[in-house]
Amino acid sequence: MKQVVILISGRGSNMEAIARAGIPGVRIAAVISNRPDATGLEVARQLGIETRVLDHKGFDTREAFDAKLAELIDSFEPDLLVLAGYMRILGEAFVRRFEGRMLNIHPSLLPAFTGLHTHRRAIEAGVKVAGATVHFVTAELDVGPIVIQAVVPVLPDDDEAALAARVVVQEHRIYPQAVRWFVEGRLQLTDGRVHLLDARTASSDWT
Ligand code: GAR
Repeated sequence: MKQVVILISGRGSNMEAIARAGIPGVRIAAVISNRPDATGLEVARQLGIETRVLDHKGFDTREAFDAKLAELIDSFEPDLLVLAGYMRILGEAFVRRFEGRMLNIHPSLLPAFTGLHTHRRAIEAGVKVAGATVHFVTAELDVGPIVIQAVVPVLPDDDEAALAARVVVQEHRIYPQAVRWFVEGRLQLTDGRVHLLDARTASSDWT
């Protein structure tokens, strides 16, 4: 069994999609939120998943918070750390500690629209397609090696909410897929890029 820890800050719909996907060989060891009021915490509890809160407000520095968070995560001995709507920047030491086994989902077609308010900015820019990206996390924000992307149209009457709703449906499809590939040992990182190995050549002890 591969142990997966999921970090959230809010609604947790991607966390729920991953948990409900029933990925063979995966156990969600814990869902951790940096916000005590994250509604995803209750969703996780209802799914029978252990939850923890580590409120960043109780820490003076990012480094101190990151160190405590890393300690908490390590206590679950995860094979994979999944950021699912986790809305805090992680420091370099934290990223280095989990590099190669930490995924994030970002609501744009990276490398376009890194950062916040992706849908509003996509509409303002007049792009005709938008989407979401699952990528490995590296020290630079929203820039790590891309695992999978999904594309949706941007329609003439779209506002931010309409586009977000169309994109999140795809997020719920591609994030479980990325987790599945990871635990199957099919994601090979070479020269900053992800190569998807054939299921038969992937080396994994996940079964
Ligand atoms: C998702 O749309 C995710 O792509 C985005 O936050 C939302 C979280 O929804 N993440 C980011 O913007 C990260 N920079 P959820 O809590 O329902 O999964």
